[in-house]
Parts: sequence; C-alpha cells; structure tokens
Amino acid sequence: MAIHSTHSAYDEPETPEEISRRRFMVNAVITMSGVIGLGLAIPILGGVIPSQESGSGGTWSPLTKAEFAELEAATQKPVKLSFAMSAKDAYLPEQTLQDYVWGIKVDPSRFRASRTDIFNGPGEKPDVPYEVANMSLVVFSPLCPHLGCRYNWDSNTGRFLCPCHGSVYDLEGAHLAGPAPRGLDPLPLREQDGTADVMWIRYKSTTPDRIVISYQS
Ligand code: FES
Repeated sequence: MAIHSTHSAYDEPETPEEISRRRFMVNAVITMSGVIGLGLAIPILGGVIPSQESGSGGTWSPLTKAEFAELEAATQKPVKLSFAMSAKDAYLPEQTLQDYVWGIKVDPSRFRASRTDIFNGPGEKPDVPYEVANMSLVVFSPLCPHLGCRYNWDSNTGRFLCPCHGSVYDLEGAHLAGPAPRGLDPLPLREQDGTADVMWIRYKSTTPDRIVISYQS
C-alpha cells in the first residue's frame, strides 16, 4: 500500500523553499513591528512637539502676587519663582507639576548688550519668538544649557553656578565660563491681573542655537 506523506520541501531545513519561507516570515514580522511602532509613535510625538506659532504650544502659569512683588524688587540678585503647571501627555491624564524659574529685574539696554547670544545687534529681534524682557523683568529656565542640570545662584560670587560641570553665568544669564554652549534660556513672561504669568519651554541642551524640545518639563 502506498504511503502518502504531507512532508514537503518547505519543511526541510536549508532547502531553497524553506529559506524563502523563513525570509518571508522575518520580513512580515519586521513590517508588522514598523506599523505598530509608527502607530504608537505618532500620538506620543504629537504630545511633545510644539506648535511653530509663537507661544501657542504652551500654557501660561501664574506667579503669586507675593512672588511677583519680590521679582519687581529684585535688582542685584535673582529670585527663585515657583509655579504650578499642567502637563499633558497623549495617554496619561493631565497632571499638575511644581517647578521654578529664576527671575531678575534688568536694565533692558544693558541686558541686550550683555546677551549677544540672544540679540545679534542693536534693533535685531531676539532669537526666540517672544519678548525676552517684559516690564524690565526676565525669567530664565532653571536648566543649564550644557546638559540640563539645575544651576544655583551663588551670592558670594554674584554668579549663577552649575554644580555638574562648572558652567558660570552672570546676573543677566550671559555665559562666562565652563562647557555650556550658550547663556541661560529666557522664558516667556507676560503681565496678568497685577501679577505675571510664565511659560515653561524646554530647549535642547549642548547646542548654541535654541531649539524647542517641548513646552513641558
Ligand atoms: S550641566 Fe551645567 S555645566 Fe554641565
């Protein structure tokens, strides 16, 4: 009696048929992974890529009246201003985060002359799409533009010092020493109902240009 086997060349290891079937399976898995990955990446990126329009990608966070009064009085020394901001992600519910910025009162013309990394020359627009000094006040991101550590104000030297790799900045935020590629990053500030609002923007570290990474921390 003839015995019929269901075994074929596709089942034999290392036959041309088996190799081509294996390749097909590998390509199918890679293609499926790519489709799934893209599907996940689009909403995640959508949650962090800011709008190109000036200031429209972020939300304003109010300073308290007491903090605003302290900022207005800060002439020779900066003040640390805390605020609450809401953080949104594509998948997580909205949450409130506490953070802070450094604020100083400036002489606008002195500030402009000191910050040549922001202003290219007299009458030139700043390299950020918003007014840097409002009401003669400036707020800085608390993140060092070198690698993102948090720097501090040192009242002995009258400088901002970064503890990580020793970058040094003057009162106006100009870069004086250390590996940072630019001065401190000014953030948007606006007058609002007798106090002020700030907007958090995270800029790319290590680059001389200010490239927006996100409007959240
Ligand atoms: S992170 Fe500030 S100097 Fe490196």
